[in-house]
Amino acid sequence: MKFFTYKTADDLREHISALGLEIPLETHLKKVLEPVSVGGRSVGNALAIHPMEGTDSELSGEPGELTFRRWERYAAGGCKLFWGEATAVSEEGRANPRQLYLTETTYDSFARLVEHTHTVHRDARGDDSDFLLGLQITHSGRWSYRKPLIAVHNPLVDSVTFVDRKKGICVDESYPVLTDDYLESLEDSFLNAAKLASRAGFDFVDLKECHTYLLNELLGARTRAGKYGGSWENRTRFIRNVVKKIRETVPNVMIATRLNVFDGIPRLPEETAQKAVSQSGPPANGFGISHENPAQADLTEPLKLVSELKALGVKIVSVSMGSPYYNSYLERPMEKPAVGDYPQPEHPLYSVARHFEYTAAVQQAHPDVIILGAGYSWLRHFFVYAAEGNLRSGRVSIVGTGRGILAYPDMVKDLMETGRLNPRKACIADSHCTNLMRAKGNAMGQFPAGCATRDALYAKIYKQAY
Ligand SMILES: Cc1cc2nc3c(=O)[nH]c(=O)nc-3n(C[C@H](O)[C@H](O)[C@H](O)COP(=O)(O)O)c2cc1C
Repeated sequence: MKFFTYKTADDLREHISALGLEIPLETHLKKVLEPVSVGGRSVGNALAIHPMEGTDSELSGEPGELTFRRWERYAAGGCKLFWGEATAVSEEGRANPRQLYLTETTYDSFARLVEHTHTVHRDARGDDSDFLLGLQITHSGRWSYRKPLIAVHNPLVDSVTFVDRKKGICVDESYPVLTDDYLESLEDSFLNAAKLASRAGFDFVDLKECHTYLLNELLGARTRAGKYGGSWENRTRFIRNVVKKIRETVPNVMIATRLNVFDGIPRLPEETAQKAVSQSGPPANGFGISHENPAQADLTEPLKLVSELKALGVKIVSVSMGSPYYNSYLERPMEKPAVGDYPQPEHPLYSVARHFEYTAAVQQAHPDVIILGAGYSWLRHFFVYAAEGNLRSGRVSIVGTGRGILAYPDMVKDLMETGRLNPRKACIADSHCTNLMRAKGNAMGQFPAGCATRDALYAKIYKQAY
């Protein structure tokens, strides 16, 4: 089924209005190119690069040749906030063998990457004093590639968490959960990574609490025993401790977090989902979900968390939702599903509007926090009109793209030179980047991910991978 059929912004506007959705399109662009003040720094425009793993590090975790290439293309393109991608704080918490991993040993190459990125940006755009560069630090929890490292059981999610994918064996109720001792020492691994990131020259670190990775899972770990589970205080202990430790030890680095405001539930083949729910009831665990109907959001706790993190000194919150492992349409509305995924269960405009609605709810509750919004790329070259609309109506502070910028790294340059985006360079949300990220069968155990549709280098890699 073809979803994206619009020739003009008016065609898109008409469909949005027919569906009764709130996606404001403003074709007179102004706010997107205006500076934004972030934690006392002036950031040159309101367009950001969202974290996008290229699964292209060396096996050691150092940025590889293709990492440098990607970051160069981003840096030259003109977005003024660059949110560097998922970088592991521990070996066992890496999502794949080519995920960036920041340690004393790999530190030098990260420092080189930062310096190079600034130089490229300065050479291409004339000024890097208004360019903000951050790094996302993470532990992949149940999605760690060596084995699932889970904070809490959740029967629906356990039933899609593979211990041995080839044999089809998933996590069951006998599978161990991470101990409090492990989590306590992991707080210091986050602190160490933040120290190294700051020393390498990153302006901010993102403590990743999204997409159902470990820190996200802890937020919803109601049935976990011990000091990191159960009560609100316990479930938020890890993030509060890490933020406090970083504030005390590395006061110069800004703290950001990418936060799931709604995990959703796995949409398994209908029968399995029904069986799982009827056996164990609706899931008690999960963040931002309504416990009467876990397929729906309840933003009470996410809003409360943003209040608490703000009070602790967090300056930037990037709003996201869903899990790439079981409901990727929530996180990244798409035209075509990735290999092995189910197709969009709703028209992508609904998924886009959900992103905008929940992001607006966070921004309107916290007008003094820099809120980043996502989920724009399916709108292709029209995304920038929605960005302008949302910025003007105070529903977001900065708009980022993930797949969009991977396909079209020089979009801001084009926008500034021609006043519009080129449809022939825009992302078409065909999930080829995700397919590459999931392609494992080469000598390094992981193919690099990039835009196989718009970038000849990755088109070639795609042919090898598939
Ligand atoms: C190949 C790929 C890699 C991604 N890597 C990350 C990542 O490292 N960290 C993260 O928070 N999100 C990651 N995402 C999610 C994107 O940042 C973004 O939230 C998502 O694609 C939706 O935004 P978009 O519609 O602009 O693409 C990734 C998505 C894809 C497709």
